[in-house]
Amino acid sequence: MHIFRDATLEDLNELLKIEEESFDGDRLSATNFKYAITKSHGALKLILVNKVIAGYVLILFHRGTSLGRIYSIAISRNFQGQGLAKRLMLLAEKVGQEHSCSYLRLEVKRTNKGAISLYEKLGYKEFKIKQDYYEDHQDALCYEKRIRKAPAKAKRNIAYYQQTTDFTCGPSALMMALKFLRPKVKLNQELELDLWREATTIYMASGHGGCGPHGIALAAARRGLKTEIYINRKSSLFTDSVRDKKKKEVIELVQRNFEKKLKEISVKTHFKNYGIAKIREIIEGGGLALVLISAYRLTETKVPHWIVITNIDDDFVYFNDSDLKDNQDKVDNINIPVGINEFEKMAKYGSGQLKCVISLFS
Ligand SMILES: CC(C)(COP(=O)(O)OP(=O)(O)OC[C@H]1O[C@@H](n2cnc3c(N)ncnc32)[C@H](O)[C@@H]1OP(=O)(O)O)[C@@H](O)C(=O)NCCC(=O)NCCS
Repeated sequence: MHIFRDATLEDLNELLKIEEESFDGDRLSATNFKYAITKSHGALKLILVNKVIAGYVLILFHRGTSLGRIYSIAISRNFQGQGLAKRLMLLAEKVGQEHSCSYLRLEVKRTNKGAISLYEKLGYKEFKIKQDYYEDHQDALCYEKRIRKAPAKAKRNIAYYQQTTDFTCGPSALMMALKFLRPKVKLNQELELDLWREATTIYMASGHGGCGPHGIALAAARRGLKTEIYINRKSSLFTDSVRDKKKKEVIELVQRNFEKKLKEISVKTHFKNYGIAKIREIIEGGGLALVLISAYRLTETKVPHWIVITNIDDDFVYFNDSDLKDNQDKVDNINIPVGINEFEKMAKYGSGQLKCVISLFS
């Protein structure tokens, strides 16, 4: 007879014992477990057999997206082979669904045949490898399962590029699109900085200037891509939060200059309140869409941020995000699913609700 319950701080010793006998390295520490129990954006669930803790599963939720991650699972040796891990995994799926997750992802060592068999029997599919991931330098196989609704259409494989500065999300999103549409292009920092110099607004409220839709579109068109801009306002962009009058003037001058150059090479700018239907049309037509979002829903920082849409289906928009945080691997930022309604809220910036989409075709 088994029951499930949430872990509490009183379970720490038992959890550490299971961890000790289950893993040779990469063990969760007391601090990790305490954090998981008290602070993390996730759930630490136990399975008990006759009141004895037989195992645990730790699930983490990815802020702002529909992704959940099975961070760890282990069953005490005395209780293995009785179907308990399978039960915990099914519970994790239920917990994920209750937290609006639509996909669960996890990592496993290539040599961990038991765990791989468990995941594959439950319908997890391998989708990537993280090189040199574990303390013993083994690679991690990354698995994913869609836990809600119908399966996605075949995903397009868009190369990943990690931005190397805080202000080059625009160039990095463009680079991922360029590689897909012009496979011979080499993705490196030189190109990233070249694109930024071509496309930057020069100033922002603080720090280096980022890139607006006009600069990015110009850089894309100059590299031979069929480019159009969809934007919901005609006035100057990114000047609302800039107090310094001279900075404002520079940003406005740069934008006007970009607009003039775009006109010279016949790149169209459509001023309309475009939404998901436009993005769907671009993706289904074989193109790529760069979309301006507010990073707030992902990282709780109110900054404008460019992403590249990799796919879209009835329920989700999928995107690659070039901004990798310290504890993330690039696999975590590839094909991130976000529910369509949630994405509509994410894809606007600032109090003026600025919306920008750049469509790119080869
Ligand atoms: C992997 C682990 C969680 C499995 O726990 P378990 O409770 O013994 O697994 P279950 O009894 O629920 O097994 C369910 C399925 O998993 C597979 N499986 C589990 N252990 C297996 C093993 N040692 N060899 C082959 N298949 C195995 C089987 O396909 C089984 O299906 P079946 O019952 O139809 O044969 C457990 O061995 C463990 O804690 N290992 C150490 C920690 C670990 O490796 N965690 C995973 C990190 S990615």
